[in-house]
Amino acid sequence: MSIIDNISEVRRRFQSEADKTKNSKDLEQLRITFLGRKGLISSMFERMSEIDPKDRGVFGKSLNEFKTYVSNRLDEVGLTLKETKSRDKSVDFSLPGIKSFSGGLHPLTLVMDEIIDVFRGMGFKVETGPEAETVYYNFDALNTLDWHPARDLTDTFYLDVPADIPLNWVMRTETSPVQIRVMENQKPPIRIIAPGKTYRKDKPDASHSPYFMQVEGLYVDKGVTMADLKGTVLAFYRAIFGKDTKTRFRPHFFPFTEPSAEVDVSCIFCKGEGCRVCKQSGWLEMGGSGMVDPIVLEGVGIDPEIYTGWAFGLGIERIAMFKYGVDDIRLFYENDLRFLEQF
Ligand code: DAH
Repeated sequence: MSIIDNISEVRRRFQSEADKTKNSKDLEQLRITFLGRKGLISSMFERMSEIDPKDRGVFGKSLNEFKTYVSNRLDEVGLTLKETKSRDKSVDFSLPGIKSFSGGLHPLTLVMDEIIDVFRGMGFKVETGPEAETVYYNFDALNTLDWHPARDLTDTFYLDVPADIPLNWVMRTETSPVQIRVMENQKPPIRIIAPGKTYRKDKPDASHSPYFMQVEGLYVDKGVTMADLKGTVLAFYRAIFGKDTKTRFRPHFFPFTEPSAEVDVSCIFCKGEGCRVCKQSGWLEMGGSGMVDPIVLEGVGIDPEIYTGWAFGLGIERIAMFKYGVDDIRLFYENDLRFLEQF
């Protein structure tokens, strides 16, 4: 084979072998075969003497070009091999990640925990009672007499009991029955709160739900007055809504307190100026309260001549709605993650 033919043959061979290179060992072998001291290109340079001296210049030039080409191509192949290798071993950052989920506390739990913390700080103990309650604890002992509309079948969930037993069991309509259970079992001084679930036959809408949560408060001791109630309630709302919060007590009626009052707080949105939320009144209604009726104290065996007490009850959802700017109570019970994940 003439040396000219030989050079094109060597080029073809190099190209095909370079394409087939799979690893650094192949690559090294290729470098030795073509560029090594005894390699194909060296041997072609050695055969220059066979060429007609007038063609030597052109031949030498193209042989040199070929040598440069081989050297560049080998570098290129080496680089590609390196990239492939590192891609195999390491993380592929272009792949979509695996999303991880973490749980969180329900907004009502968050608010409840905060309320409990505030009252604990003021020396109140936490007590609980059953959600399925007897008519005695839910109504009778709380002086909620037979004529009271809250006892109606249309307002209260009565539990299914055999026909020969009077309608004796209800889902508690308020947390107040816990007051009775505590006073039956503890001697004054009594200072407790009772957080928990309550049930009423209300048709769900933006401000009603057939189940909701309340916190009951009760303080019984010698010489307890309405001034203590007002001071405690004010301190509580300031802890929850901020130190500029004001409270207002409006006369009201509850069967188990006398006198009774409804508690309003200065609107947390307009600071009492009047806005859409407080219906321009500057006040938000928060719950009921009052001095424990002597009839109730007598019923649990606490002498109203010696002891007095106050009580209050408030709704947790209402506080949560104001705190978090939620305008529909049903959101708390729909378990929609898009809502719950915001807390
Ligand atoms: N139980 C009442 C209700 O659910 C709230 C309430 C009012 C509780 C006055 C009290 C109280 O302890 O003294 O509407």
